[in-house]
Amino acid sequence: MTNIGVIGGAGYVGLVTGVGLAALGHKVISMDLDQKRLAMLRSGKSAVYEDGLEPILAKLNEMKQISFTDDQSETVRNSDVLFIAVGTPSLSDGAADLSAVIAVAEHLRDEISKYTVIVVKSTVPVGTLNIVTDILSQKLTEGEDFDVVSNPEFLREGSGLIDFFAPSRIIVGSNSERANAVLREIYEPLLAGSTVVDVPWIDSNREIPYVETDAVSAQLTKYAANAFLATRISFINEIAGLSEKVGGNIGDIVEGLGLDPRIGPGYLQPGIGFGGPCLDKDLRALITVAGENSYEPVMFNGVLQRNELQLREVMNKITSVVGASLYQKRIALLGLAFKEGTNDVRHSLSMRLYRLLTDQGASVVGHDYLAVEEAREMEPEINASDNLESVIAGAEIIVVLNADAGYRQIDWSGFESRETSPFVVDTRATLDHDSLSELGIKFDVIGSAN
Ligand code: UDX
Repeated sequence: MTNIGVIGGAGYVGLVTGVGLAALGHKVISMDLDQKRLAMLRSGKSAVYEDGLEPILAKLNEMKQISFTDDQSETVRNSDVLFIAVGTPSLSDGAADLSAVIAVAEHLRDEISKYTVIVVKSTVPVGTLNIVTDILSQKLTEGEDFDVVSNPEFLREGSGLIDFFAPSRIIVGSNSERANAVLREIYEPLLAGSTVVDVPWIDSNREIPYVETDAVSAQLTKYAANAFLATRISFINEIAGLSEKVGGNIGDIVEGLGLDPRIGPGYLQPGIGFGGPCLDKDLRALITVAGENSYEPVMFNGVLQRNELQLREVMNKITSVVGASLYQKRIALLGLAFKEGTNDVRHSLSMRLYRLLTDQGASVVGHDYLAVEEAREMEPEINASDNLESVIAGAEIIVVLNADAGYRQIDWSGFESRETSPFVVDTRATLDHDSLSELGIKFDVIGSAN
């Protein structure tokens, strides 16, 4: 059992990490400055939607395996290992904003009084670990008082716990054998499939790859993973655009592509483009790092460009039906969060689309199963509801923006009795197009000619 502090413990990454480590049997103090979130977490509730989280959190609270505080000094005093999971948002020039990481490091420099391993979970550009080490070295001795380790997360929002308990790999970047030994001990229960509370995702038959490397390679692996995922999406979106022009069917193309074992079927769904707090931000940070190192990131720039164009593709689909003027056109947007299964609206392309349409005078109503409140916080004037039927009832155009199973189950037969049926734009190629055709409902699918 290790005493672990998580700094930034109420955010997506920090919460999943804290809960995960506590479930492995470690004593976790989760520190955050967000009082509202802390109060919720103490009562077993999470402001962040994560599949299966709340019952596990409640149990860990009850067992006193995890506690929540806003006191960083207390967290440092009571921890042998500190996981840093504070945010690293994009600055306007695309570089990562390291101010939160730097503030934490300055605090640690003044507070650490015994050997402490500092594990950087936040996605930080190569070189950041050196900055943290330099700050700590102003007062402390590396190797004796502290070691800094990179342990990037590969957590998807909404499925973070699955990714924690059944990770595709664990990557630890450090040049210190002492710190490596501490990290191995922390992850040992996970590798052995042992937890102190029941979690459904542990698969003791599968060996979890554990990769030890240097800190630079660990950080670059994380950026490379997100850049590769973004590349796959822009790639398939570009193929989808071409497919529409030449009369292909994107569903069949994705199936045919994914059957090649060198390519694989995952992460090839066309759509409005990649949103969310990670892919775009990490790609921009990578482009900045390349620039700083006199290296031309031609591919990454192309991936971003395609992503920007996707939104225009969706707008074109809408205007090709209603004409250039969107004034008072009733448009329903299904899916406001940046993807299905999350309540996160940060960097959501759906929210951008909502604004673009309302700016042109359209009468837009949005639907989301989980994120209506969050959408309202971001855009107080937004017209949105979690009642799907009412959202689509009066719409002239219905735009499906994510692949939520609920949208696939819409009973379109109800529209038969209407004088004019709505036009459906399916950006995720997710609906049952045959039944739409049978009902005489016109539709347009990203990636398919119809
Ligand atoms: C991503 C990475 O998957 C995760 O490993 C990393 O730690 C954080 O960033 P996340 O941002 O939660 O996770 O979302 P993800 O499920 O990867 O989706 C990102 C965006 O890509 C969403 O907008 C999603 O709708 C879009 N997407 C995803 C597609 O358009 N097509 C796909 O096939 C997959």
